[in-house]
Amino acid sequence: MTKHRIAFINGSLRKDSFHGRLGLAITAAATDRLAITALQIDDLPLYNQDVDGDAAPPSYRRFRKALQASDGVLFGSPEYNRSMSGAMKNAIDVGSRPYGQSSFARKPAAVFSGSPGMTGGFGSNHALRQSCVFVDMPVMPQPEAYWGLLNDDKLAADGSVNDEMLAKFVAGFAKAFADWIDLIVAGRASLALDPTQQG
Ligand SMILES: Cc1cc2nc3c(=O)[nH]c(=O)nc-3n(C[C@H](O)[C@H](O)[C@H](O)COP(=O)(O)O)c2cc1C
Repeated sequence: MTKHRIAFINGSLRKDSFHGRLGLAITAAATDRLAITALQIDDLPLYNQDVDGDAAPPSYRRFRKALQASDGVLFGSPEYNRSMSGAMKNAIDVGSRPYGQSSFARKPAAVFSGSPGMTGGFGSNHALRQSCVFVDMPVMPQPEAYWGLLNDDKLAADGSVNDEMLAKFVAGFAKAFADWIDLIVAGRASLALDPTQQG
């Protein structure tokens, strides 16, 4: 069976990011069905309409091309002050432009968030979902993933999960995401929708 290609966007730029680790854990759990590749976002200059189109920086072109080549997007969204990180918002802005040429339009997606705190990044998760609506991405509704109380004991740097409940949840999330990608990709093909068409 052909594996769907998934672009992983981590809104954290930090080397030891829990979202990076969770991305690895989901990648391992879904490996039979999804080929998940992390996209670089730390070299995307802050979005400025004056330097787009023909003047777009090479990093914008690389990022957009990688999105266009993907069948779907996995977002790991750290919570910064009850919203998504600036790096994540910038990546959304860059990928959504130039106007009418969004690289996100109609790509199926899933969002997970986590935090060492109690609330598991709920605010960032939903701020990101709001932007996904506007850029016309069908985002997996369930299971929602707000992974709270994260620490190094539960989640190692290599993405291995040492907590039974979290491991079960990650596996369930990965399976549901692969099912969601199958559903949307097949539905889009049966409707003969142009995946690049702006909604
Ligand atoms: C600028 C900033 C704001 C933060 N705001 C929140 C917040 O609103 N809620 C929360 O649960 N954690 C907050 N945190 C803590 C992050 O959840 C924590 O650093 C987490 O590990 C970030 O994800 P990462 O491990 O993938 O980098 C904040 C951290 C930073 C640096």
